[in-house]
Amino acid sequence: MIPSQRALFDLPREVAYLNCAYIGPMLAEAVEVGRAALARKARPWTIRPADFHDQTEELRPLFARVIGADAEGVALVPSASYAIATAAQNLPLGHGRTIVVPAEQFPSNLYPWRAAAAAAGAEVVTAAPGPDLTAALLAAIDSRTAVVACAHCRWTDGALVDLARVGAAARAVGAALVLDLTQSAGALPFDAAGVRPDFVAAAAYKWLLGPYATGFLWVAPHRRDGRPLEQTWLGRAGSENFARLIDYRDDHRAGARRFDMGEAPNFALLPALRVGLERILAWDVEAIQATLAARTGEIAARAAGLGLAASDPSLRAGHFLGLRFPAPPPPDLPDRLAAAQVHVSLRGDTLRVTPHLYNDDEDVERLIEALAAAL
Ligand SMILES: Cc1ncc(COP(=O)(O)O)c(C=O)c1O
Repeated sequence: MIPSQRALFDLPREVAYLNCAYIGPMLAEAVEVGRAALARKARPWTIRPADFHDQTEELRPLFARVIGADAEGVALVPSASYAIATAAQNLPLGHGRTIVVPAEQFPSNLYPWRAAAAAAGAEVVTAAPGPDLTAALLAAIDSRTAVVACAHCRWTDGALVDLARVGAAARAVGAALVLDLTQSAGALPFDAAGVRPDFVAAAAYKWLLGPYATGFLWVAPHRRDGRPLEQTWLGRAGSENFARLIDYRDDHRAGARRFDMGEAPNFALLPALRVGLERILAWDVEAIQATLAARTGEIAARAAGLGLAASDPSLRAGHFLGLRFPAPPPPDLPDRLAAAQVHVSLRGDTLRVTPHLYNDDEDVERLIEALAAAL
């Protein structure tokens, strides 16, 4: 168990922030590094041509370690939407083929598939709703399936998907596996080598504690010769030689670098992202998950005393807790809780409580007190 890391964050004592699934706070050190990084733009001569590649090269292995993958497969993207759009552009769909998604998937991993399906005469098939996402996805995969697109845990309540089983079922019918790990990378152990996905997307502003508009796409080795969304000059071979950029080239840099977004070496944001990733690796994702699972378990037990029901811990990720009410909750419940400086989210009829290592026992007390007062 990792003791509370609150001192590393700029969280006022009176605030109980239990909403990492909404936006993860940046570490105080990351904010400081980010301020200095932004200030470099006031002195452009301090930004060297080598920085254009060095900044991104430093980040690839860090994200690769978080997801148990190789650094060569990592591209820098601004959002999960961008990463999934890249995947959709590179997976052939045919007339009558299907893309299988779980019910109530976050839209970033749905809209690109709807567009791709419409263009190809394919169909998005939504797995049956319910608590067991794995069973529902397995039941929806058949010989028509070209792609299975899902997350490791549901964004509303943390319901888990057994990705090894879903991946194996997808491979058995020749389908690709596309994962959006925005709500799990950095907090829930994931091993790309074991799951063998084709594409992995993750926005970094939640559980990776990074700035907004930063994120990653990991691409499996056999997909790395695909077509990027943008034709960036930095993604081309030889782009480190600024003197020769007009010796135009059709070949790309190695690995998944061709999939980097335009202006990937964001001098203002990437140094702060790096601080978050390094800290997460130092804490260790398994230890983070164990600590947060204990925290949500404790909150579930306390909330049960108020008549709120949590999902079966064996079916949910430990960093998430979805609390259900005996009767529909007042729609302004999150506002009432926020007025008491307790920050959580309402997703559907589920109160989503998502702590991180900055939380402590006092935050739990404040949540329970505020819930008791508001209900
Ligand atoms: C599962 C999931 N994916 C992605 C995102 C963010 O998507 P994007 O980076 O496309 O804005 C969210 C935000 O809540 C999310 O919950």
